[in-house]
Amino acid sequence: MTNLKPIRIAGVGYSIPDTVITNDDLTKLYETSDEWIYTRTGIKERRIVSGNEDAIDLGEKAARNAIEKSGIAPEDIDMIIAASTAPIELYSMGCQIHKRLGIKKQIPAFDIAAACTGLIYGLSIAKSFIASGMYKNILIVATDNNSKLLDWTDRGTSILFGDGAGAMVVTEAEDGIDDIISIDIKSDGNYDHLISLRFDGENCPLVKPNDIHDSKIHMNGKGVYAFVAKILPKYVEELLQNSGMTSDDIDYLIPHQANIRIIQAVQERLGMPEEKVVTNIKYYGNTSAASIPIALAEGVEKGNVKLGSTAILCGFGAGMTWGGAIIRLREGIC
Ligand code: UT7
Repeated sequence: MTNLKPIRIAGVGYSIPDTVITNDDLTKLYETSDEWIYTRTGIKERRIVSGNEDAIDLGEKAARNAIEKSGIAPEDIDMIIAASTAPIELYSMGCQIHKRLGIKKQIPAFDIAAACTGLIYGLSIAKSFIASGMYKNILIVATDNNSKLLDWTDRGTSILFGDGAGAMVVTEAEDGIDDIISIDIKSDGNYDHLISLRFDGENCPLVKPNDIHDSKIHMNGKGVYAFVAKILPKYVEELLQNSGMTSDDIDYLIPHQANIRIIQAVQERLGMPEEKVVTNIKYYGNTSAASIPIALAEGVEKGNVKLGSTAILCGFGAGMTWGGAIIRLREGIC
C-alpha cells in the first residue's frame, strides 16, 4: 500500500511522584540490603504515590506535558489511548484522562493492558489509525501505580517497581517523513504464569462461590529473567536487521527499565557503547508501561538524548508481551 500516511512524534512528556523510597528504606519492611538490590537490579530508589495520588494524576501531568510540547491544542486531539494496568478506574483510564484534560469534544478514549510493553503497543495502534487516515492527532498516556499492587512483604518483587507516567502525542506528518521507521509487537500467553495479577471478583451469592486470589503482583523473577534474556536481545537485533539497519544507524537504545543486567544484555548483543544507552532505573525502578517514555522524555530534558537522532525502543512485560520500535526524534518534541 502506498498511500499510508506518515506519522510524526510531536511531543513527549512524563511525570513522577515526589515520594522517594530508597533501598535502605525497604530494610524496614524485610531483610534485604542496598548492596543486594543494587547489584542484582541496578536500582537504588524508586518513586511512589502517597495519599490519594494515583496513576490518573500522574497520567494527567504527563499528558499535559506532552501536549504542551507538541504544540497541538487539547481540543484537536482525536483519540486517547491509555496504556495502563493500574485498576484505579477499570472503566477506562483513557476517559479519565479525557475528562481531566477538559476536552469537550467527544472522541474515542480507551485502555490497553500490555503491561510494561504498553507504550509500544499504544504507539503501534496509534500508527495504524494515523496511517489509515482515520485519525490525525493521538495522545498515548502510559501510566502505572505499581506500588498499590505490590505485596510489600514479598522482597523478591516489591524491590523492583516504582510509579510514574509518560505520554506521547503523535500526529500525521505533513512533510511526508515517518518518525516510526519500524514497529513490532509480540506476545506469548503460554508464559502467563511468570507474572500475574488477578482480580477474581466474587460470584453471585446464588451460585457456587469462586476461588479468590489476592489482587497483588506475583512474579517468578528468575523465570522472567531467563525468558527475557533468551528472547529480547535476539529480537531487538532482528528488528534492526528487518529494517535494513545496524546499530551504527541508531543513536540511542531506550529500553524498558526492568533490570540493568537485562538492559546490558541487549546493549552487548547490539554492540552499542554505554553512552548510547538511556537508563534511569537507578532512580525510578520499573515503572511498567511508563518506563520507556519516562526514559525518553527525561533523557531529552536532561540533555542525555540529543534530538535530530534515531532511537530504538524495546520492552517486555507480563502476558508475556514484548515489542520494539525504531523511531526518529525530531527537534522540538520535548
Ligand atoms: O516488568 C517486570 C519484569 N520483571 C523482571 O524483569 C524481573 C527479572 N528478574 C530479576 O530481576 C531477578 O530475578 C530478581 C532481582 C527479582 C531476583 O534476583 P535473583 O538473582 O533471581 O534472586 P532469587 O530470586 O533467585 O533469590 C536468590 C536468593 C534467595 O535466597 P536463597 O533461597 O538462595 O537463600 C532469595 O530468598 O536471594 C534471596 N532474596 C533476597 N535477598 C535479599 C530474594 N530477594 C531478596 C532481597 N534481598 N530483596
